[in-house]
Amino acid sequence: MTFKNLKNNFIKTLKHLYAEHECESIFYILAEHVFKSTKSEIHLNFNNNIPIEKLLDFNNCLSELKQSKPIQYVIGESSFFDLNFIVNENVLIPRQETEELVNLIINDKLNSKSRLKILDIGTGSGCIAISLSTNISKAEVFACDISEKALEVAKNNAVRNNCNVSFFKLDIANCENYKVNEKFDIIVSNPPYVIKYQTSAMQKNVLDYEPHIALFAPDDSPLFFYDKILQFAEKYLVSGGWIYFEINEIYHSQIEELISKFNYKNIEIVKDINDKFRMAKAQKNG
Ligand SMILES: C[S@@+](CC[C@H](N)C(=O)[O-])C[C@H]1O[C@@H](n2cnc3c(N)ncnc32)[C@H](O)[C@@H]1O
Repeated sequence: MTFKNLKNNFIKTLKHLYAEHECESIFYILAEHVFKSTKSEIHLNFNNNIPIEKLLDFNNCLSELKQSKPIQYVIGESSFFDLNFIVNENVLIPRQETEELVNLIINDKLNSKSRLKILDIGTGSGCIAISLSTNISKAEVFACDISEKALEVAKNNAVRNNCNVSFFKLDIANCENYKVNEKFDIIVSNPPYVIKYQTSAMQKNVLDYEPHIALFAPDDSPLFFYDKILQFAEKYLVSGGWIYFEINEIYHSQIEELISKFNYKNIEIVKDINDKFRMAKAQKNG
């Protein structure tokens, strides 16, 4: 079997699940991973035969893809903000809109003259915390999650990316009596914000494989996590400090209203590159 045949067969097998251009990009992600070659090396060898043992590995992965398993979970990694992250079914696959949130914070804080203590709440794979730690030299980064399994992945990702983040377990919904020994200059979160009725618009590969604890807010309280984080920030965000959220676009005005009930100024709802309201930021009053 040549790479050319392999690619044609791959697209034929998955085209009921993905658009052709998506099949094509998934093919190259998998081929680069299995054959440890770049896309151009694969092209240069397009009409050459593939070694049988590699073919078996490739086809095992294809069987998993056929079951709608996301490519990132099949190969066990995902890229985010030019870094590489281990991912498994205990953590959300990092998303492009979250890269935009990280970018927003970096642009705001890059030239900060003083040391910044940053807390990422609901860190999952650690993608936000680790990207901020890597890109803001004056940052001292902390990150928490309710899930011990997610924290394990995040810690491994910090080691993989050679950066120093302090991780701890915290249930933001029940932390009134929890004592954190720090106050933060920035609190950032991409909390669970999907509501059950939105599931009909969600893809099977998300619903069947990604952790529901990372996706869903309570049906009767879509802003539950934002409210809890804002309550936490009353105590642990310094005066003049900033809060950053990734948000569900359908609740952007309610989130703005919620933030304004707390003690904030400079509240901004920010659009992403697709012109959707997907981020919020605000500064705690002094
Ligand atoms: C939408 S995911 C975000 C993951 C990661 N920060 C990212 O942007 O890819 C939400 C995260 O919040 C965590 N989480 C859910 N409920 C929580 C709670 N009560 N307290 C703290 N973290 C929670 C989940 O385990 C999950 O890792």
